Amino acid sequence: MDSSLLAESKRIAGYRAADLVEDGTVIGLGTGSTVFFAMERLAERIASGLSIVGVPTSYQAAIRAREYGIPLTTLDEFPQLALAIDGADQVDPGLSLIKGRGAAHLREKCVADAAEEVVIVVDSTKTVDTLSAPVPIEVLPFACGLAFRRLTEMGGVPVLREGVKKDGPVVTDNGNFIIDCNFGAIPDPASLEQQIAAVPGLLECGLFTTFAEKMRVVVGEGRECRIV
Ligand code: 5RP
Repeated sequence: MDSSLLAESKRIAGYRAADLVEDGTVIGLGTGSTVFFAMERLAERIASGLSIVGVPTSYQAAIRAREYGIPLTTLDEFPQLALAIDGADQVDPGLSLIKGRGAAHLREKCVADAAEEVVIVVDSTKTVDTLSAPVPIEVLPFACGLAFRRLTEMGGVPVLREGVKKDGPVVTDNGNFIIDCNFGAIPDPASLEQQIAAVPGLLECGLFTTFAEKMRVVVGEGRECRIV
């Protein structure tokens, strides 16, 4: 898909998700380029009278939300959210996801858990038959060596995520590192998510397999979008 069609696909998905938001609600605001289109549309709706408050899942999301004039709060103030809008890197037919290219998946998983409904916004290149992208895993820096050993024993190929200038590890909003672990095709993502969760020092992985029942996925493709 060329870059302008890709941007249009993300925009249409983001806008459709923003139109699902009801007046007077507290919502989760995910991180990523597709969610930022949802924020753009929310800003338009706020200008027309919509009243909402958002819980951002990262500093980046908070900065962007402020630019759009979306009032913000915290999960401490509102541990129950009506809805969360978030992006994903891959979505399978059972609505299991890989998230975390933006290194925000730990807070995103907390927000998804707090939400009564989760709306995932993606362009159509993200839908796959079987998840296979490297799985982002937030790791306590102290436990990095142990994590590499355990993930390798599990059949993965772990790589520490570095910044674009290759001048050191990416540091998350929580002060931790990110390992991208390639497991190849992932036929049973729920089992892999549980195995990763059992390793001390691995704080959260980008596999999201437990939210399908309360999830809708808005898939944008050019000027069309469909809800799965
Ligand atoms: C951040 C995420 C993002 O939602 C995911 O990477 C998708 O981003 P984009 O909409 O820019 O493709 O999980 O941690």
